[in-house]
Amino acid sequence: MARAAIVTGAARGIGAATARRLAADGFAVAVLDLSEDDARGTVGEIEAAGGRALAVGADVGDADQVQAAVDRVAAELGPPVVLVNNAGVTRDNLLFKMSDADWDLVMHVHLRGSFLMTRAAQKHMIDAQWGRIVNLSSTSALGNRGQANYATAKAGLQGFTKTLAIELGKFGVTANAIAPGFIVTDMTRATAERIGEEWEPYVAKRAAAIPVARAGQPEDIAHTVSFLVSEGAGFVSGQVVYVAGGPRT
Ligand SMILES: NC(=O)c1ccc[n+]([C@@H]2O[C@H](COP(=O)([O-])OP(=O)(O)OC[C@H]3O[C@@H](n4cnc5c(N)ncnc54)[C@H](O)[C@@H]3O)[C@@H](O)[C@H]2O)c1
Repeated sequence: MARAAIVTGAARGIGAATARRLAADGFAVAVLDLSEDDARGTVGEIEAAGGRALAVGADVGDADQVQAAVDRVAAELGPPVVLVNNAGVTRDNLLFKMSDADWDLVMHVHLRGSFLMTRAAQKHMIDAQWGRIVNLSSTSALGNRGQANYATAKAGLQGFTKTLAIELGKFGVTANAIAPGFIVTDMTRATAERIGEEWEPYVAKRAAAIPVARAGQPEDIAHTVSFLVSEGAGFVSGQVVYVAGGPRT
């Protein structure tokens, strides 16, 4: 039977591309997002390509919803032994203008969300004595103007990842982080809008600063996830892989 994987925030963007890729790799994929309805689009694409998927609605920062979601995946797809903590939000602002709510929401989704999802899913990985956890960090973890909340959360995820690697390694579970650079998604479209820049020139400007001279696509990240969850990557753990078209962009 196919191993089950959960990808959070998989209704669109990097999460959707990752869910499609893991399904193509042979996993049965739980497409988790805030609303089950939103998750159905990705599920439809996976099924049309001959894969197996399940739409699941949950707020990753809500402990009860997370437990119910993981239980449902285990019952309907099989024990989730792969978890990709990808759900994310930005609430950018310069520090002096950043509200308490914007700080808290970013911590809720990225940090509390990854913690709750991992705590619920690890039981299944330990039972199976095999598991793969991939957390989405960001080049913003190195510091980024207007992102005190997001940069803090993304740096925090790197410490979380390394600790998971240490605690879970002896059970056959690896944990790694991917830190993407500029990837073309709704999240970066919203950034361009917020700073009042037209989308196409904004992408061209960002691409010009990237050593491989192009913007990243969701599939670039999905490919890296595919490697990290593969059988052969079992000796790669506690790492942060910057996938940014260069050392730091
Ligand atoms: N796009 C980039 O350039 C970039 C760069 C570095 C890191 N990242 C990270 O990659 C991940 C995916 O980014 P993206 O660009 O595809 O973003 P996106 O905004 O296109 O998609 C994020 C998804 O997460 C879901 N989500 C938000 N809050 C949630 C919650 N509480 N519970 C469940 N789902 C929730 C959204 O509904 C959405 O479908 C994020 O963690 C992001 O921080 C993105």
